[in-house]
Amino acid sequence: MTTPTIELKPSASPLSDAEREAILANPGFGRHFTDHMVTIKWTEGRGWHDAQLVPYAPISLDPATMVLHYAQEIFEGLKAYRQPDGTVATFRPEKNAERFQRSAHRLGMPELPVETFIEACDVLVQQDEAWVPAHGGEESLYLRPFMIATEVGLGVKPANEYLFLVIASPAGAYFPGGVKPVSIWLSEDRVRAVPGGMGDAKTGGNYAASLLAQAEAATKGCDQVCYLDAVEHTWVEELGGMNLYFVYGDRIVTPTLTGSILEGVTRDSLLAVARDLGYTSEEGRVSVDQWQRDSENGTLTEVFACGTAAVITPVGTVKRASAEWQQSGGEPGEVTLRLRRALLDIQRGTAEDKHGWMHKL
Ligand code: COI
Repeated sequence: MTTPTIELKPSASPLSDAEREAILANPGFGRHFTDHMVTIKWTEGRGWHDAQLVPYAPISLDPATMVLHYAQEIFEGLKAYRQPDGTVATFRPEKNAERFQRSAHRLGMPELPVETFIEACDVLVQQDEAWVPAHGGEESLYLRPFMIATEVGLGVKPANEYLFLVIASPAGAYFPGGVKPVSIWLSEDRVRAVPGGMGDAKTGGNYAASLLAQAEAATKGCDQVCYLDAVEHTWVEELGGMNLYFVYGDRIVTPTLTGSILEGVTRDSLLAVARDLGYTSEEGRVSVDQWQRDSENGTLTEVFACGTAAVITPVGTVKRASAEWQQSGGEPGEVTLRLRRALLDIQRGTAEDKHGWMHKL
């Protein structure tokens, strides 16, 4: 199915340079949005049409729009980085585009062609290039492509109309503490996703499912919740918005993808970056008891979380109902920081991009 060229309808009144600079001085995460967005419609029998870059603005939906009732929604997150020569590049956008297709398939939605996904991101970044933070710091421009079911009606079925959008938001550290270790609550009763469910799709429902356990984690004094598998309540899965890595000296291990874990782009990239740095990297099963035992006997030297938004964030305190312990003395571990630096250097263009991951605009 062919896709239309994106028609440019730029804003007549974007934010002033001074207003934008004030936001870029302290962007936070997901609080401010750039001047434009891309929208593309899909209609049964017609395919993708009306591709536009338009001023960022609220969208108007009929109260009976299907996404509001049955949550047929998927999204992605990727970043654009200012390079040392002033140009801009995104990181592995084709990986996000491919996952967006897998998520669409799982939720009975139309699959956007990979090249259209990438073009939509490129067009928005090019138009709003002034919003890409300066080279040298932790900041980047976070892109949020997403798709919603827009057919109006209350019958439960895959919709016959959809809207794809890309919005962008300048982003600093996801956690206010930056690389300060986060504390984790191990949820041994509530689960995030089940075998055969949609845990490997990037859909809002998975995040909604995580919020109660996240709130419970906060009552235990923890920043994040870690989910175990839904059958045995034994095997470590992910944090809900981030994947996990376990560091055993010079060997790093991330939970094997089981269908109920999101296949993170950062997770995948770190398997390769770790090898480049001379570590052994592998996927494997890690049980919650093994996590505690290996931390206590000192073989598990560090644990960190990773994701596009959070980059690599060290894990400090870990709590479960029966115990509490600290990873690497509650400080960011050496391997964690080395991997973080190596990945960021590739993304910011200060290290060789030997895997060809950077997509230059
Ligand atoms: C990301 O890392 O891009 C995520 O999707 C995590 C969260 C902000 C939803």
